[in-house]
Amino acid sequence: MPSSKDFIDMDHEYCAHNYHPIPVVISKAEGVWVYDPEGNKYLDCLSAYSSQNTGHCHPEIINALKEQADKVTLTSRAFHNDMMGPFLKKLCDIVGPHVNDPNNSGIMSIPMNTGTEAVETGLKVCRAWGYIKKKIPKDEAKIIICRNNFHGRTITIVGFSTDISAVRYYGNFGPYTPGFVIIPYGDADILENTILELGPEKVAGFLFEPIQGEAGVNVPPEGYVKKIREICTKYNVLMLADEIQTGFGRTGELFACDHENVKPDMLLLGKALGGGVYPVSAIVTTKDIVGPDVIKPGTHGSTFGGNPLASAVAMKSLDIHIDDHLAERAKRRGGYFIEGLRKIASKNTILPIKEIRGKGLLMAIEFTTDARHIVEMLKDKGILAKDTHSTTIRFAPPLIITKEQVDWALQIIEAVLVK
Ligand SMILES: Cc1ncc(COP(=O)(O)O)c(C=O)c1O
Repeated sequence: MPSSKDFIDMDHEYCAHNYHPIPVVISKAEGVWVYDPEGNKYLDCLSAYSSQNTGHCHPEIINALKEQADKVTLTSRAFHNDMMGPFLKKLCDIVGPHVNDPNNSGIMSIPMNTGTEAVETGLKVCRAWGYIKKKIPKDEAKIIICRNNFHGRTITIVGFSTDISAVRYYGNFGPYTPGFVIIPYGDADILENTILELGPEKVAGFLFEPIQGEAGVNVPPEGYVKKIREICTKYNVLMLADEIQTGFGRTGELFACDHENVKPDMLLLGKALGGGVYPVSAIVTTKDIVGPDVIKPGTHGSTFGGNPLASAVAMKSLDIHIDDHLAERAKRRGGYFIEGLRKIASKNTILPIKEIRGKGLLMAIEFTTDARHIVEMLKDKGILAKDTHSTTIRFAPPLIITKEQVDWALQIIEAVLVK
């Protein structure tokens, strides 16, 4: 039987080296646990970058996948299918109350596949709305985004990243798409000043993450999201919240914007929507923004978006998130987990700790220097986590994690970190 080393060697030989994975091979998974081919067991504290909220191979989601696979899997949007409508109705019913719809125009969605595609879709809709509804002069629309953002990997999106070495790859993916203006994250006054400098009549949208996940779980100052809402409303600028990583309970509320009771104009969703088994993403916004006067047949699409298999899986994932109160669980367990991390940080650690931060079950330890070796030590003791930007380790276990499992994780983290 091939060993972990054989699989790692094969990846190295046949896959471009666009990742630098932790040297572990996962060949089986259930709930919060994953297993390598040698039978070693690990607690998953990354959850496929927050995609495994419901836990690996949730039996109800796998059943939904199997049942749908026996009926019909892919039709393309050239025809209707009997799953997309029920899925999007459920999605709009659940997400709609979290979306700003001042005219009660109704909630609508566009289903896509990956998070990156949801962001691209949101940007296209935002620009189209800007020209058609806000009457921005042709080709002059601006969208404001934040420093240290991570919204995906297409050329447009990497073009407005500020991660020079990895995401922008020192300009080797250029030239990039114009029309984007970068401002610091967490400062609402700068947003307002930038809108005024650019001319409010030319600004279509502001795209942001309510917590910057890939940047190292950057939590903005309290009140930031509320102030953004007020500014966007004042200047008729669309507030686009990328909740691809923070959405569906990860931070202890259904959406991270809920912590400040704020409704953005558009939510960009992905990851956990697919129940950890299938790529499903979507934008959810209002009819005023994405209705037939803005998006017309042929103007946007995806062969796989809204396919019956994706719809069946996402519907089940939505049900589990709501019925099992995963947001509430994330709030409770996350509060307990982060308190434990703070206690560990107060001890004499092998690497100096700069900060512990996070919300719900999206947490991070920032060290003063490179922490990759800590990640490998955690792996050797049975915890899978991943460094972001080398000095920060993110902890984001499935939201179904129990208190006993959190206690076990804290024991291991303490054994690795404390002298
Ligand atoms: C906030 C955010 N937006 C977008 C993306 C891109 O999603 P995907 O990798 O599914 O394309 C990610 C992925 O980590 C993300 O964290």
